[in-house]
Amino acid sequence: MSHPVPVFEARNISKYFGPVRALSNVSVSLNRGEIHSIIGENGAGKSTLMNIICGRFAPTEGQIFVGGAQVHFQSPNDAQRHGIAIAPQEISLVPDLSVYENILLGAHCGGIVGIDWRKTRERATHHLHQVDNSINPRAKVSNLSKAQQQLVQIARAAATEARILIFDEPTASLTYREEGVLLGYIEALARLGRSAFYISHRLDEVRRLSDRITVLRDGVHAGELSAKVATRDEMVRLMAGRPPKIGAQSIRNVAQTQPVLEVEGLTRAGEFENVSFNLYKGEILGVSGLIGAGRTEMAKCIFGATRAKAGTIRLEGKKVSFDSPYHAIRAGLVYLPEERKQEGIFPLLSIAENTALPTLNRFTSFLRIRNRDMLTEVESLAEQMKAKFNSLKEPITSLSGGNQQKFIIARWLMRDAKVMILDEPTRGIDVNAKFEIQSVLRRLTEERGLSIIVVSSEMEELLDVADRILVMHEGSVKGMASREDATQEGLLQLAMS
Ligand SMILES: Nc1ncnc2c1ncn2[C@@H]1O[C@H](COP(=O)(O)OP(=O)(O)OP(=O)(O)O)[C@@H](O)[C@H]1O
Ligand SMILES: [Mg+2]
Repeated sequence: MSHPVPVFEARNISKYFGPVRALSNVSVSLNRGEIHSIIGENGAGKSTLMNIICGRFAPTEGQIFVGGAQVHFQSPNDAQRHGIAIAPQEISLVPDLSVYENILLGAHCGGIVGIDWRKTRERATHHLHQVDNSINPRAKVSNLSKAQQQLVQIARAAATEARILIFDEPTASLTYREEGVLLGYIEALARLGRSAFYISHRLDEVRRLSDRITVLRDGVHAGELSAKVATRDEMVRLMAGRPPKIGAQSIRNVAQTQPVLEVEGLTRAGEFENVSFNLYKGEILGVSGLIGAGRTEMAKCIFGATRAKAGTIRLEGKKVSFDSPYHAIRAGLVYLPEERKQEGIFPLLSIAENTALPTLNRFTSFLRIRNRDMLTEVESLAEQMKAKFNSLKEPITSLSGGNQQKFIIARWLMRDAKVMILDEPTRGIDVNAKFEIQSVLRRLTEERGLSIIVVSSEMEELLDVADRILVMHEGSVKGMASREDATQEGLLQLAMS
């Protein structure tokens, strides 16, 4: 590289959590204006490394240099004083404060005295509107969607004076269009001479955006690639340590004779209107659309979490109207929400407890033994999804983001259900594990006759796994295509029309 002194360097970093080795002897550097991506499977150590760089964790071993001088961060504030800011993988905004307040909180971190509030405020708006000009800065953060919150976190990091920015999976909840805007914005930041570490499981996006790619595997530096010449296969091979085993599920013809779920004219003012479709036995139906298309709102309504204004839902031919999710579950319809952190996990409990809680009634007889059976089953499902964990007794929060997801998905797949609605099931999950999850879904439809609706922002994912794809836009159904006929461009056109 032509740059003499890197703006940032981490040398020989190791990190242990008790006996668990999360990182071993990893070195990375960052040049001025460079976008350096860190990729790796779930649990490879990406977030741990970023947490060390931003001062949240102390490394067990190793040194950190900013502008050539060694530093020892005691806290994230320390790191920020050295010009490092992070948009973390998990949302870390104050939900009861406004978007503005959250951004300002980040931006004045160095101390309140001597802050030019007006200027800081302008900066906040400027950056917010660069990532999304539809977000109202005065809105309360808790009223925003997960995707919008993610964008606010990015604006918060960028609105600081930090020269070194860390984006840990910023696009995980974004759809195609927002992703494009965000990538353009990060490129613009780099052109202004700011530098970034960038983490994503979307490998095409990584290739497009980065200058350099570092691959972590099991906490070890597995290789460095130049983004301009790296191929997708090469990236996957380095991540997994073996040739990729990814691709689409085979195309099949699900008989459209036995609708399990019939939705007709479903309407909820301001959310979605006149939504009609059938889901057939053993089918995987994909639901595509941009943020705000009303997909999650529709799913929640079918699940009984909200009331429909008009329309009917039939489950196995019988008209149903669930008063609450509890009733939906009793009838055999379950929903895995997209906001798993808030609605899906119990952060204070262990992996085992988190896994056991919702399925307990299926295993009530001889609670103890059956509970162990259940854990074994979930464990084996999670292993099929390539979950990385040490012991089921550890708190669920000790798992990496992607591995938490795998357990939550496994736990839901354990339920006896006729219809399962999965909202963004593979968000934040690495490419190999994604393939495994898709295979598990396929098997469930074939072996148990389960019918599945997958809501996903990633068209590629739907094109890999769904039998048919429903496209929504601004609350209405714009079309339905069999996977055989669907293309990414075609879906996108429908989604934006
Ligand atoms: N607080 C903790 N206590 C114990 N182990 C931890 C803790 N934080 C992380 N680990 C372990 O460190 C390893 C690396 O986790 P990390 O979160 O860095 O992975 P990641 O590469 O970011 O994965 P993902 O793609 O799923 O986000 C994992 O095996 C995880 O279980
Ligand atoms: Mg992570």
